Amino acid sequence: MDLERLLADRLAPAFAAVAGGPVDPAVRRSQHADFQSDAALGLARRLGRPPREIAAEVRERAALADLCAAVEVSGPGFLNLTVSGQALGGLVSAMAADPRLGVPAVAEPETVVVDYSGPNVAKEMHVGHLRSTVIGDAAARTLEWLGHRVLRANHLGDWGTPFGMLIEHLLDLGEAGAAQELSMGDLDGFYKAARAKFDDDEAFRERSRQRVVALQGGDPATLRLWRLLVTQSESYFLTVYDLLDVTLTGDDFRGESSYHDQLSPTVEELDRLGLLRRSDGADCVFPPGSVGRDGEPLPLIVRKSDGGYGYPATDLAALRHRTGALGATRLLYVVGLPQRRHFEMVFAVGAQAGWLAAPVRAEHVGFGSILGPDGRMLRSRAGGSVKLVELLTEAVQRATALARERNPELGEAEAAEVGRAVGVGAIKYADLSGDRHKDYVLDWERMLSLDGNTAPYLQYAYSRVRSIFRRAGAAARPDADVSLGEPAERALAMELVGFAAVVDELAAGLEFHRLTAYLHRLAVAFSAFYERCPVLRAEGPVRESRLVLCELTGRVLRQGLDLLGIRTPERL
Ligand code: ARG
Repeated sequence: MDLERLLADRLAPAFAAVAGGPVDPAVRRSQHADFQSDAALGLARRLGRPPREIAAEVRERAALADLCAAVEVSGPGFLNLTVSGQALGGLVSAMAADPRLGVPAVAEPETVVVDYSGPNVAKEMHVGHLRSTVIGDAAARTLEWLGHRVLRANHLGDWGTPFGMLIEHLLDLGEAGAAQELSMGDLDGFYKAARAKFDDDEAFRERSRQRVVALQGGDPATLRLWRLLVTQSESYFLTVYDLLDVTLTGDDFRGESSYHDQLSPTVEELDRLGLLRRSDGADCVFPPGSVGRDGEPLPLIVRKSDGGYGYPATDLAALRHRTGALGATRLLYVVGLPQRRHFEMVFAVGAQAGWLAAPVRAEHVGFGSILGPDGRMLRSRAGGSVKLVELLTEAVQRATALARERNPELGEAEAAEVGRAVGVGAIKYADLSGDRHKDYVLDWERMLSLDGNTAPYLQYAYSRVRSIFRRAGAAARPDADVSLGEPAERALAMELVGFAAVVDELAAGLEFHRLTAYLHRLAVAFSAFYERCPVLRAEGPVRESRLVLCELTGRVLRQGLDLLGIRTPERL
């Protein structure tokens, strides 16, 4: 259990006795002591008594002797709590003895669908897909570690009108040639060429239209060509996932096409529920609360005037399937903020239809854009959109050069391995360490820097821990007493025992920058400790105790980075 909660649990009965009813003790970390409670201030207004008097009474009543070395009333009526070295040492020992580092698996696991990555077939993945992939994977890993049943759903754009022109282009190139081009990852070239012909060539346009009709009618020859496009793209996406070290596999592809059979039952159900309205020849639902700028109600178009189904219908069918057949109680959609309105409307219609009713809930885990150094949308040198693979390759190249330069003893293979871990880690960390709602600037120097709030800094801290144990030639003794005589030891211990609270908070808000900020604070505390407190040169119980602190730091860094999908090489 984390300290904040432990202290709050002890203070709560004392506050309740004074107030005559439950009170949140509002325990926070503090500059003035380890923790502070300011609940007496609010209570004073309610009870009409001086806050300092209330704080003093709570202090008398609270059973804190085994946890705190000092409990003081300060200022207008704060309670300042200083944790005793012994209590803190005990918590560190308990955490070190726990394979889960003090983070229990949840008592009631949920089925959670994490919808992420979702690139489009025969189109290059762009940096927006990068963010979705990185954030979604961190969410899936974290919820899984907490004991939930996570279903990864890669909502591939693999259906719809563009496939008419893509299939016709494929035929023009010849199947073998097209497959070659696509498997090389030249998805953009393929798509653009098809598009150009579609725009300039009337006959091609007509062929494409007929091809869409054949595709939707289930013509076997057309379906075979479509499959070809999808499989080639899928295998390309899988190479990107592999490079990026994400946990998505071929089994997680749940493209739009997989909901094909459920589209008309979904729309029929909406109709039966009386939710459909015809507007300009299309079947629409007008969810309450959705209004445009002009104040007019906004429709979600579920069946277009030509009878076709689009993106919204597919998302409704997917939602219905996920909460119905899959029995999920939490749906996460890791998609850029520009699609916010779309999801608001889909969720609202889902609620109207009864597919989304408490305790089942859906959340749009939105994020901002990646900007170039000029503060504008990231562009390639040629001015087009940046290819994900190029970005990753550049990161790995830069990191490998860095690794070689820092550590010339690394062999070729290890340097490549380290370069990959650091380069990919740096990109992911840059993505996860800012408030995801905001845009961020891609800055190579900063994200690969060995100091600052970066992946390489944390990976370096981890490698320092490992080097201590290589030199010690042994692991820490699990039953060693933890003594915290030095302020730097105490500060490190205080950070270590905060891990559980940070992870706990993560599950609800999926704000990974809180975990990165925590890991960074931990690494800073470790480095201050390591500077001031000799470990291998210390002797007896002090050495044993410090080894426990080092080992625990390493484990927390490793576990924390693993939740983010970032590797921790042994040597850097
Ligand atoms: N393919 C979509 C795009 O590239 C993302 C899919 C997001 N997921 C969803 N269920 N709509 O914008």
